[in-house]
Amino acid sequence: MQTIGVIGAGQMGAGIAQVSAAAGYRVILSDVDQARAEAGKAGIAKRLARNVEKGKIDGQARDALLGRIEPVGDVAAMAPCALVIEAATEREAIKRQIFERVGAVLGKDAVLASNTSSIPITRLAQAAPDPARFIGVHFFNPVPVMGLIEIIRGLATSDETVATIETYAAQLGKQVVRANDAPGFIVNRVLMPMLNEACFALGEGVATIPDIDLACQLGLNHPMGPLTLADFIGLDTCLEITRVLFEGTGDPKFRPAPLLIKYVEAGWYGRKSGRGFYDYSGETPVPTR
Ligand code: 3HC
Repeated sequence: MQTIGVIGAGQMGAGIAQVSAAAGYRVILSDVDQARAEAGKAGIAKRLARNVEKGKIDGQARDALLGRIEPVGDVAAMAPCALVIEAATEREAIKRQIFERVGAVLGKDAVLASNTSSIPITRLAQAAPDPARFIGVHFFNPVPVMGLIEIIRGLATSDETVATIETYAAQLGKQVVRANDAPGFIVNRVLMPMLNEACFALGEGVATIPDIDLACQLGLNHPMGPLTLADFIGLDTCLEITRVLFEGTGDPKFRPAPLLIKYVEAGWYGRKSGRGFYDYSGETPVPTR
């Protein structure tokens, strides 16, 4: 059984660990300390308990899956991994530090991948032990539900590294698309302008929060309206990616909406902070404007 390392036990990292263990891989899941790594695994256990209640998996399969995930407090434990996926905070300095630390223990054939949603892969590869064995693997939230992985190759990424990720994605049952190392890759290049435009529409008084969401949900047949989706992704993340699109292309069509900036400056990041375009403190989300 191959061992996969996942760095970062937050929403994305825990999701990646879960689907990798479900596909039969042994997973070493790390975070800044043991407690956070354990908390990531506890979240997976909670989600799996719901799946057992729904009859989607049985208790035995759940226990086997959880038994394949080992939470650790340090990336030094990643030495036996054939593939390590970094899903830490979307800050370049933090990712660079992680690559240096994990690079010191990785095997000479191991592939290092980043789940970055916006930082150029070619630039990040400079901090990796070997840019030929470095690649972008962009998962979507919620990872167990979403069927796609975007593969982003940096300038130096080798064909073998791409093949390793394609094999891994196939094992997970996910479809892959290949994107060039351009700002926002494919999905965020198309998605973020829509979410940003919904913020402009709200700020300019075109319609209310529920009407903008209902319009897009029913009028476009999307599973969530854009303001609900922005809250779900995190408004700080949406702003960060929109800024990358704006700065990376120099095109004013990507300028962030003033209202989006204001919400982030207020610390209203969406679901994760309890308040964004909706207030999540009660049973059902309530629009905040
Ligand atoms: N983790 C795991 N499974 C989850 C989940 C989560 N966080 N949230 C929901 N699910 C599962 C449920 O268990 C349920 O499974 P079942 O049908 O087998 O019982 C299924 O998803 C449907 O869930 P619900 O019935 O509770 O709710 P919905 O039908 O409203 O679906 C949703 C929820 C799947 C989140 C759906 O609203 C959706 O697809 N929304 C859009 C998500 C999206 O666009 N994601 C991409 C964001 S962009 C991104 O990630 C890129 C990044 O770089 C920003």
